[in-house]
Amino acid sequence: MADSSTNRSSATGTAPVLVASNRGPVSFSTADDGTLTLRRGGGGLVSGLSAIEDPNAVWVCAALNDSDRRAAAGAPHGRLDLAGHEVGGQAVRMLDIDPQTFSRAYNGVANSTLWFVHHLLYATPTAPAFDAGFRTEWAAYQAYNEAFAEALAAEAAPNAAVLVQDYHLSLVPALLREARPDLRIGHFSHTPWAPPEYYRLLPDDVARAVLTGILGADRACFLTHRWARAFAACCEDLLEATVDHDALTVTFDGRTTLPQPSAGGTPTRRTTLPQPSAGGTPTRRTTRLGVHALGADADFLRERAHRPDVDERLAALREAVGDRRTIVRVDRTELSKNIVRGLQAYRHLLRTRPEWHDRVVHIAFAYPSRTDLAEYRNYTAAVRDLAAAINDEFATPTWQPLILHVDDDFPRSLAAYRLADVALVNPIRDGMNLVAKEVPVVSDHGCALVLSREAGAHAELKDDALTVNPYDVIATADALHAGLTMSPEERADRTKRLTAAATALPPQQWFLDQLNAL
Ligand code: F6P
Repeated sequence: MADSSTNRSSATGTAPVLVASNRGPVSFSTADDGTLTLRRGGGGLVSGLSAIEDPNAVWVCAALNDSDRRAAAGAPHGRLDLAGHEVGGQAVRMLDIDPQTFSRAYNGVANSTLWFVHHLLYATPTAPAFDAGFRTEWAAYQAYNEAFAEALAAEAAPNAAVLVQDYHLSLVPALLREARPDLRIGHFSHTPWAPPEYYRLLPDDVARAVLTGILGADRACFLTHRWARAFAACCEDLLEATVDHDALTVTFDGRTTLPQPSAGGTPTRRTTLPQPSAGGTPTRRTTRLGVHALGADADFLRERAHRPDVDERLAALREAVGDRRTIVRVDRTELSKNIVRGLQAYRHLLRTRPEWHDRVVHIAFAYPSRTDLAEYRNYTAAVRDLAAAINDEFATPTWQPLILHVDDDFPRSLAAYRLADVALVNPIRDGMNLVAKEVPVVSDHGCALVLSREAGAHAELKDDALTVNPYDVIATADALHAGLTMSPEERADRTKRLTAAATALPPQQWFLDQLNAL
């Protein structure tokens, strides 16, 4: 007899609200004695979900490591037992996806391809090259998305609301709609969206599958209007979809035309392909686009930033810095965060403005991220090398100009936020960048914010930030100087306004707004 949880056409579960994301609200590690230890995840989505009051809500996520897999395997009916842990009221279903499939989908497609496209990270003379290896990864990405769609279809009550998160799960909305047309489906992109000229780097079928996958949602949501417009432009350009720029909708009739290569490889004719939907029959659907600018969680941050573990780290940092000014940055060690150019800007400041020698310390926290990928490991090495070179060039027996830490320590990050005179947030491109919103909220005495115009947060913070072109090292050094010399009154005034803008849409409201709009 067929297992009803995998019967995609008739299965209905009991959850009225579901969230799906690659990384879930909890993760596990294995202690020396072999027992599993649970840790609550951070981030806006975890805070946002605390707004759900329904105890039947379900969060579907992937097992990310062997400890997660052990926990998932031992979970009754696939649901983790979270009793006694402060992780919100919802049930968590962790999918035990075969490790090779998971790695190809997460590392190969999501992080090495879609992430690179949306953040414009390729050095195009040599990359990308979509070869046979990529095709294997793409097949894994499809299987991984199917596993999520099946789990959601099995868990969802009739007419349930399903909020699918991010570029890992771009195929899920269309797959889920096919299995469960009764559901209300939202998709949220936490990344930027690439402009069409860059998005077209993807193989044509992949580019279309990602767009039509997301268009399976009733609402496709973004962190800023800029990313929503870029998505709409890709739909117009690659799918010939109809975009209503005022109502912010995309209408797609399920057909797309594309050139077919002739024997000589030159496109000669155009043919009509069906959308990957019910039985291949083209259907006309309109997807609404939404913009929800996730804000900082002020209540959580203020309370957390004044606990004893943060005070302790603040005292240690104060001792290291003395009465000097501070420039603070806190990031994942992530290619898009532009840490290397940030360090180059600091070096330029010290080289061209010797008045800052012995009067400033740059505190840079770059905690590990995606270390399975060689690009990320190499980038971490480049950050370390440049940091060491700056200290070699300028340090004196009594002054260390740069303090770099590459291990994750959340209380120490909050301590640095409190201490910051200047915050440096200079990404090449960023969906939002919550650090830019968090520092003003937590800062003890007000801080100047040097902010890349390519961060989503810039749309809301630009009036009171010092805006920089992230590629312009000299202009960034000038902005650091402007931040360091800003009067305390101006800094405090700007910080007040930055805080108001940064907290305009707290995570819980951000989440409820999306739910209510579905
Ligand atoms: O920005 C997209 C995003 O998925 C964020 O939601 C998250 O902070 C970040 O990437 C982390 O990625 P990973 O799960 O690969 O560490």
